[in-house]
Amino acid sequence: MDRYAVIGHPVEHSKSPIIHTAFARQTRQDLCYQALLAPLDGFSDTVRMFRAGGGRGVNVTVPFKLEACALATRLTARAKAAGALNTLTFNGDIVVGDNTDGIGLVRDLVLNLSCPLAGQRVLLLGAGGAARGVILPLLQVRPTALTIANRTVSRAHELRAAFAEYADQSALTAGGFEDLEGWEFDVVINATSASLENEAPPLPDKIFAPGALAYDMMYGMGDTPFLAAARAMGVTRLADGLGMLVEQAAESFALWRGVRPKSAPVLSKLRRKLATPA
Ligand code: ATR
Repeated sequence: MDRYAVIGHPVEHSKSPIIHTAFARQTRQDLCYQALLAPLDGFSDTVRMFRAGGGRGVNVTVPFKLEACALATRLTARAKAAGALNTLTFNGDIVVGDNTDGIGLVRDLVLNLSCPLAGQRVLLLGAGGAARGVILPLLQVRPTALTIANRTVSRAHELRAAFAEYADQSALTAGGFEDLEGWEFDVVINATSASLENEAPPLPDKIFAPGALAYDMMYGMGDTPFLAAARAMGVTRLADGLGMLVEQAAESFALWRGVRPKSAPVLSKLRRKLATPA
């Protein structure tokens, strides 16, 4: 049986084993997928042992997404641009590193939430690893404008400079939250980790255009602080990052197995599980 795993620290909370096992059952692929805890200083050893035991590929999660780049013999363009990866595929001596987070976000927005992105004004909140990982795939669907806003303004400008060469079809701008005064957007994506501190990025209350979508890359039971703030401003189209989680997994699965699973039934199953207190 082909073996796959997600490697992280911590990793026991990971939903990837549930998702990939459901995909395998649905597509009748004979594989097993487990969660592997790597010591903080033992990521590459953990990967080496998993490969030696016949592992075919791994997903990589916090805090190893940057470090994992060093293990790849080849990086895809989107992994290079993200500067981090979440998927390794082992093929003999070749190790391909890819990043499916950004395409996962785009597929969730465009396919699951019917939000075209093309021709729209998109605001990305945050300038850390989560934001960096989604900029190239967002630009590839050609929004009219992509604005990066961050608490530490210099980090937003750094990202703008790093991605300027990919922005031929979109106006790519950057600034702080206070620079957003007077602007409005069709899609606002929260890629900050502010929810972990139970906070929402401070946004002007006219930031959402009529009919705009508020999207939080984080998820949990109920509204995140960002989604609660958007709802309080009258936004009715709200989504958390559970769909992105399932879509990034579907993309990894398709890379490994050459068959794309249906994400909708797995997303509904996870949504039901999340709504049920443990
Ligand atoms: P990740 O890999 O999850 O993106 P990160 O690289 O530490 O983690 O980045 C966290 C992001 O959330 C940053 O953009 C951070 O803003 P700063 O660059 O100013 O630190 C943002 N962030 C974290 N807490 C925040 C808060 N309370 N309000 C607004 N932004 C916050």
